[in-house]
Amino acid sequence: MTPPPDSSDPTALPEQARAVAIVPAAGRGERLGFGVPKALVPVRGTALLTHAVRGLLNAGCVRHVVVAAPPSEVESTTALLRAEGLAADVVPGGADRTESVRLALRHATKVIPDARVVLVHDAARSFTPAEVIRAVVAAVAAGAPAVVPVLPMADTVKQVDFGGTVLATPDRAALRVVQTPQGFDLDTLTRAYAEAGDSATDDAGLVEKIGIPVATVPGHAYAMKITTPFDLAIAEFILSREEAQ
Ligand code: CTP
Ligand code: MG
Repeated sequence: MTPPPDSSDPTALPEQARAVAIVPAAGRGERLGFGVPKALVPVRGTALLTHAVRGLLNAGCVRHVVVAAPPSEVESTTALLRAEGLAADVVPGGADRTESVRLALRHATKVIPDARVVLVHDAARSFTPAEVIRAVVAAVAAGAPAVVPVLPMADTVKQVDFGGTVLATPDRAALRVVQTPQGFDLDTLTRAYAEAGDSATDDAGLVEKIGIPVATVPGHAYAMKITTPFDLAIAEFILSREEAQ
């Protein structure tokens, strides 16, 4: 008798239970202000997207990667990843992140028809540790329909009105900062994208809208989203520490 797969070790999962990873990378990176798409901005000589895709493939529980790139950068992005020896399909992204994920998801279900687990991972979270990727895949493999990595809030958060006057102070203990990769049972994410209709800032938000519970696993400070030049300086620091190890 074949023993059931050990979902606590996602690197030991059978092929079908390994994740297809969707990487939205079609944004313009306006807040970073480099004049090129953020995914192509280098950290220590290597593009953010390359760091992100390498991290996914090296985690040992991802079977296929689909990148959504700016439509004008599909060829250059394909060449960039190929030159680094990273296997990934690159498709044109859309006008917002939700549309980019929708387009990449459509491609993923075509090329990997037996996929069951899907990750959605921002190219801008380029230095997410393997343990976070593995924890998300393991939780989906163990039966959770949707999983997000989270961190506790360090700051107190205020709810304000349009004029900036404080309305309320939510209990910080009940709040979490949400990261990626977010992991889903493929049918759940496909349904969420078909039924939830409008945009969301994260994919789990669409799953919440169709009434499916979203589980959490511990995130990591290194899974921060690189948005501003300040974040890029932190990314340089993270990579120099990793390289020193
Ligand atoms: N993204 C995408 N398609 C879009 C917009 C965003 O795939 N039309 C991706 C980005 O490439 C990024 C992730 O979604 O990996 C998170 O978006 P964000 O951090 O806002 O990146 P940008 O949109 O590139 O940055 P900015 O908002 O500063 O222009
Ligand atoms: Mg954006």
